[in-house]
Amino acid sequence: MQLEGRTCLITGASKGIGRALAAVLLEDGARVVISARGAERLEGARAALASQGDVAAVAGDVGDDQDAARMVAEATERFGSLDLLVNNAAILPEPAPVASISAETWNDVLRVNVTGTANLIRHALPVMAAQGSGVIANISSTWGRSAAAHQGPYCASKFAVEALTTSLAGEVPNGIVTFAVNPGIIATDMLARAFGSDVSMYTSPEELAPAWRRLLGSVDASWNGRSVDLG
Ligand SMILES: NC(=O)c1ccc[n+]([C@@H]2O[C@H](COP(=O)([O-])OP(=O)(O)OC[C@H]3O[C@@H](n4cnc5c(N)ncnc54)[C@H](OP(=O)(O)O)[C@@H]3O)[C@@H](O)[C@H]2O)c1
Repeated sequence: MQLEGRTCLITGASKGIGRALAAVLLEDGARVVISARGAERLEGARAALASQGDVAAVAGDVGDDQDAARMVAEATERFGSLDLLVNNAAILPEPAPVASISAETWNDVLRVNVTGTANLIRHALPVMAAQGSGVIANISSTWGRSAAAHQGPYCASKFAVEALTTSLAGEVPNGIVTFAVNPGIIATDMLARAFGSDVSMYTSPEELAPAWRRLLGSVDASWNGRSVDLG
């Protein structure tokens, strides 16, 4: 897809992979809306990105349906379209055995990682359908294809992201494409939490820029329903 002049909404973009992707999209001429829950860090990201192009920020929780609706509404009102939705926001709880994980933790992880993705899709799809075009990229994980011990809720949530992507691909009208993306092992706060150690030797989110350009530049109708690796 061409990025110049397109409107892109990235959830979970106040730091990590989402924020670095926002910088790539802006450099390539897209108009970008970033979102996250923490308003202060989100505003810091917006201010830092503003020198690179047309960027707006909408604070909110993807797991809250009204917040999800607001993210889509503010993106379309501000920029007049919605061409790329990147469902990137996710949480990862402390590693623990399935048998010891509370119902509250299960609910939190599934609410953000799965229901949050579905919420954004529910609000974005009518906009894209009216335009006759749009791309929905759902950020998955290696743990969306094979599960690991002590990561039950996160793995289950990413398997669900893969499944909802496949379901959605069979439902979208012509002109709309959805796929799942595994970003690989990337040095972010989430990885540090997963590994419980220093992760600075891994690929940084900024180093993904060429891979994002290759990937987004290749997207066409044949991508609908695919599960791809970013690297
Ligand atoms: N890093 C890796 O190695 C790796 C590997 C495979 C897949 N992934 C996936 O890549 C994506 C980005 O991960 P990351 O490593 O960049 O994570 P990160 O550094 O922890 O950043 C997560 C972002 O999501 C936001 N967020 C969290 N919960 C949210 C909610 N309920 N509503 C809106 N925003 C929310 C966070 O801000 P607030 O907390 O302020 O909301 C933050 O901006 C995730 O889907 C993750 O599962 C990462």
